[in-house]
Amino acid sequence: MQADIPRTTAALRALKGMQKEALLQGSLQHPNVLGLVGAVQQGHAFAGFIMPFCQGGSLETALRELSTSNTSLPLPQRVRVALLAARGLSYLHQRSIIHLDLKADNIFLEGPLLTSNGADVDEAVGVKIADFGLSTTLQPGQTSVAVNQGRGTDSHMAPEVRRGGNVSTSADIWSFGVLLWELVHQRPPGPDDSTGSNRVPIVPPDCQAAWAVIMKKCLRIRASERPDASQLVQELQQLL
Ligand SMILES: Nc1ncnc2c1ncn2[C@@H]1O[C@H](COP(=O)(O)OP(=O)(O)O)[C@@H](O)[C@H]1O
Ligand SMILES: [Mg+2]
Repeated sequence: MQADIPRTTAALRALKGMQKEALLQGSLQHPNVLGLVGAVQQGHAFAGFIMPFCQGGSLETALRELSTSNTSLPLPQRVRVALLAARGLSYLHQRSIIHLDLKADNIFLEGPLLTSNGADVDEAVGVKIADFGLSTTLQPGQTSVAVNQGRGTDSHMAPEVRRGGNVSTSADIWSFGVLLWELVHQRPPGPDDSTGSNRVPIVPPDCQAAWAVIMKKCLRIRASERPDASQLVQELQQLL
């Protein structure tokens, strides 16, 4: 039936995209990046992939739950989560992977953010960057890649991604700056939390000064002026 053709094409395209995502994710091995356990085959076709289950759920949900119980993530734990995420991001960038959808919703936790007695920092909680559905890999010698306008999540999108065109790993650094914002507010920024056509999140005036400095560096409009992920690792390490 002719009417089935577009649906089949769309399904094939989706499957191809999933396969690409699985191949990429399967090649990754880092404590702060969600790896792949295996792939599911149906007949000769690829049907899906299996990931380790992260008991703590997404970072976004965990932060929101803390807010619901009127709890602020203590600063040492906040720094630790950011540091582990920066380590995962640095690994991805060393492998020429641009994530393109970095946000708390795509970071998973192996356990609760806080231990049951509340203020105690759980040293063991694992932080894993996940969801490579929009990721792209730079070819050898390439430092940027053309992306369609608006690829990713609006609240976390670097200005150059919003416009569309050539983007580099620096696009993820912008999103990391928004992640630092999320870790302070324990929710993603909304339209009222940012300014201008570039949707720059307003740096919270009452957060730790060194944290605000790192956030501002990540949120520089010019991509080339943003720090790289390994610099972020070093700077966050100093806050521990
Ligand atoms: N490894 C995991 N452990 C626990 N929950 C997961 C895991 N992977 C995905 N999820 C759940 O599935 C949702 C979507 O996952 P994600 O990989 O971000 O896919 P997408 O955003 O493309 O739908 C998450 O918000 C979370 O609730
Ligand atoms: Mg997701």
